[in-house]
Amino acid sequence: MIIDHSAIAHATSLLKEGKLVAIPTETVYGLGADALNTEAIQKVYTAKGRPSTNPLIIHLANAQAMIEWAIDIPEMAWKLAKAFWPGPLTLILPKHPRVPFCATGNQASIGLRVPNHPLALALLNNFGGGIAAPSANRYRKISPTTPEHVREELGNSVDYILEGGPCQVGIESTIVSLLDTPRILRQGGISAEALTEVLGFKPSNQDKKPSLIQVPGQSDVHYAPSKPLYIVDKPDQNPFYSTQRSYSVMAFGPKPQDAPSCLSTWIRASSDPIIYARELYAYLRILDHAPGEYILVESPPLQENWWAIHDRLKRASTTY
Ligand code: TXA
Ligand code: MG
Repeated sequence: MIIDHSAIAHATSLLKEGKLVAIPTETVYGLGADALNTEAIQKVYTAKGRPSTNPLIIHLANAQAMIEWAIDIPEMAWKLAKAFWPGPLTLILPKHPRVPFCATGNQASIGLRVPNHPLALALLNNFGGGIAAPSANRYRKISPTTPEHVREELGNSVDYILEGGPCQVGIESTIVSLLDTPRILRQGGISAEALTEVLGFKPSNQDKKPSLIQVPGQSDVHYAPSKPLYIVDKPDQNPFYSTQRSYSVMAFGPKPQDAPSCLSTWIRASSDPIIYARELYAYLRILDHAPGEYILVESPPLQENWWAIHDRLKRASTTY
């Protein structure tokens, strides 16, 4: 990717002025602010419509910068950082006292990650500090994976969008807490198997519903389109078929020849979980804008490499 240095310089000066800059990452676009500027952080919460108890992830230029943001960093953090940064892994560590509590939603811990995107890294290096960035969507809505999605979500409440193309991973980072024994708080771009390989043991997995209460900022309805979304075993087993209400579908197979006229849009999803994740949020937006009254999504295979996708679909769904 060719780096537009004037765009990086512009984004840097805006961050230094306490403005909000949407940044491309490999997972989703983030709504970035200077992580040490409490007023700028306040603006992030306002722009998203997000409760102030919901902590932000602080993005860093490299692993070495961890010592400026966290304390009591265990050996495991360096090991994971070495294996996965830059990349879609967020580590939860005890927060450094210099970090304002508003950046961590009043937590004594902090979420840190080095994103794997050339423009994000160029910006972080040029800015020289940490960038607090939640996903650049309105609270509980679908995370943006293109600059257009950011505009659609946030309009004028973001001062500048650093355009870095579509996100390659497409779903958010995996979050691992290292406050105690390693524990996965959110599934994402790095699989549990990959973590196990590096750690030498399986991290505990804060799975499904119980986690939603204990992890700040992970409410059960999240990443959601505005239309009702139902996960079904087979898309032609439409539970509302008899009502003749219009609907749209995302499924693995082709659109059936004898599809009813109330079917408005049929998206054929990839059967490769890497590609499915990359396309998921853009497809959910298309389905949300399609003429249907509700959305049916065919359940992906119940296999470990689809877990992060199952998690996002459940949060997007009405049946969850
Ligand atoms: O891939 C990603 O992680 C994207 C890109 C922009 O980096 N960011 C992202 O941020 O997904 P956000 O704000 O949408 O989700 C961050 C989540 C919070 O909702 C919370 O669950 C968790 O990270 N988190 C952050 N700091 C935490 C902490 N100190 N303790 C527990 N959970 C924390
Ligand atoms: Mg988010």
